Amino acid sequence: MAMDRAMEPGWEPGEPGEPGWARPGGALGARGLLALAVASGAAVWATWAVLLMPGFRRVPLRLQVPFQPSSPRQVANSLALLRGRAGKTVDLGSGDGRLVLEAYKQGLRPALGYELNPWLLCLANYRAWKAGYHGKVSFLKKDLWKVNLSDCHNVIVFLAPSVKPPLASKLLAELPDDARVVAGRYPFPSWTPSSTLGQGLDQVWAYDIKEVRREVQGSAQQSQL
Ligand SMILES: C[S@@+](CC[C@H](N)C(=O)[O-])C[C@H]1O[C@@H](n2cnc3c(N)ncnc32)[C@H](O)[C@@H]1O
Ligand SMILES: *[C@@H]1O[C@H](CO)[C@@H](O)[C@H](O)[C@H]1NC(C)=O
Repeated sequence: MAMDRAMEPGWEPGEPGEPGWARPGGALGARGLLALAVASGAAVWATWAVLLMPGFRRVPLRLQVPFQPSSPRQVANSLALLRGRAGKTVDLGSGDGRLVLEAYKQGLRPALGYELNPWLLCLANYRAWKAGYHGKVSFLKKDLWKVNLSDCHNVIVFLAPSVKPPLASKLLAELPDDARVVAGRYPFPSWTPSSTLGQGLDQVWAYDIKEVRREVQGSAQQSQL
């Protein structure tokens, strides 16, 4: 292709990014378009496979949630709903570790995160080290769908709405009665929150598992009548 162009009258060679690089006045041919489509498809795939979703091969596609960090306000709101609570605090899908680090800083201990993406684990560990929390918080390379949550008292979830129903079943089956779940961005569609904080994108919801179980059992009995 470069050769064809070089032989055209009026073609001036140039480096990519320089004005002379694009074919002057010409449109991209069908082959060029195809090549472009393949290349950009490959770039999207590579970004997904290498940066966003490495370590996720064993997770069913419908349960894969890509990294999207919470905002400082979302972090502050989530932790305000857990203030003063005791017991183990976990972030399911901890990303770069921001929620876990802030939880530890505010006295929620032990605090740990589960994450599959090795780049994010690396970043989270680096940030913990930089904050002086090395060895105090932990980031574990584990599939959140496979960890046993029976000893978690404070659970933070910033995950896509599509995984909320299977997550709700898992939390109800495993969490202790006195656990509190804080969800960011999207609420659990069938649960009633015990409190909420923030507006719009910054809104977070807290659920007390004991209340949720009572509600779920109540509606199950209702539907049997
Ligand atoms: C929307 S991001 C939220 C990150 C972080 N909690 C925050 O609020 O900044 C969801 C994170 O969950 C991770 N994740 C998704 N599915 C997971 C799984 N099955 N096991 C462990 N981590 C998972 C993703 O890699 C991503 O970093
Ligand atoms: C999780 O661990 C608890 C306590 O060790 C155990 O009773 C429970 O059966 C486990 N749950 C699952 C789903 O493995």
